[in-house]
Amino acid sequence: MTPPPSIPIAQLRLSVAPMMDWTDTHCRAFHRVLAPNARLYTEMVHANAVIHGDRHKLLALHASEHPVALQLGGSEPALLAQAARIGAEAGFDEINLNCGCPSDRVQAGRFGACLMREPALVGDSVAAMIAACDVPVTVKCRLGVDDDHEWDRFAHFVDSVAAAGCNTFVIHARNAWLQGLSPKENREVPPLRYDWAYRLKRERPHLQIIVNGGIATMDEATQHLEHADGAMLGRAAYHDPYLLHRLDVAWFGGPLRTRGDLLRAYRPYVEAELARGVFLKHITRHILGLFAGERGGRAFRQVLSEGAHKPGADWSLVEQALALTASFATAEA
Ligand SMILES: Cc1cc2nc3c(=O)[nH]c(=O)nc-3n(C[C@H](O)[C@H](O)[C@H](O)COP(=O)(O)O)c2cc1C
Repeated sequence: MTPPPSIPIAQLRLSVAPMMDWTDTHCRAFHRVLAPNARLYTEMVHANAVIHGDRHKLLALHASEHPVALQLGGSEPALLAQAARIGAEAGFDEINLNCGCPSDRVQAGRFGACLMREPALVGDSVAAMIAACDVPVTVKCRLGVDDDHEWDRFAHFVDSVAAAGCNTFVIHARNAWLQGLSPKENREVPPLRYDWAYRLKRERPHLQIIVNGGIATMDEATQHLEHADGAMLGRAAYHDPYLLHRLDVAWFGGPLRTRGDLLRAYRPYVEAELARGVFLKHITRHILGLFAGERGGRAFRQVLSEGAHKPGADWSLVEQALALTASFATAEA
């Protein structure tokens, strides 16, 4: 039997986390300009929505985005398999199963983080997904739920899923607390324990392990590469997207471009979307952080936030915002 396809090593190194309401197709197209070598992830889409919903919208994908993974939510192997096949046929390069989301809605539907307690079901789901599509099937999980703190339980989860054919795991290196914490708190309160992700890689070197959770700087991201195959950034990449560019250049080479340069490289995409009837505000909301921490960054953000929702708003608004950052730079010189 031929082994299921895996992700090429170089594509594991840098990735941007799946983030609901954030990593839509406009966001991913922007991140692609900044980080040509990063692996990108969609927002989570439930398998049922993929099968019955508006695929044109839910599976929107621009040609520039590759390599890009579709993240699925669900816990019924047959439905997940069907959704995985649809996703692969729609052009996604990887199908990722969410075993880490702690929201109430997810718990009611018995998917997301609760699946960490159902390794056999996740194994069955992954096996069905692998059989149904010809792209890598991967899993994003936590270390455990609530007060599960036994390494053996976590290792058993990973081993069961690996035995079903999954060889790539994104480890959000903290537990999910299913009671009493909001999803936001669940990304902040349970302590990070990267050592478990590192141990997984050390003891199971055949698995591809990507570390996620709380990575905020170049140095932190780079340190993870000493112990794992890749670093996945979520909030830091979204709020300070230039970090993605700096990481891409540091790890893969190529010239360090200015923020303005990168933004203008995004212009053809933006104008094509505007011509299709997309509103500027749906695109510019993802670029507000581009000048984070820079002089003029606040003015850049403000001009875009205030102007992008107005009727007829177009690229000239972005130029206007950019000009403000340039005027600060000139003032500083
Ligand atoms: C707004 C938001 C939405 C998220 N949505 C998802 C999601 O759809 N699927 C998922 O697996 N994780 C989701 N996450 C969790 C991230 O993928 C990531 O695991 C988490 O934010 C920790 O990484 P970070 O500290 O680099 O942000 C979301 C996080 C945020 C901030």
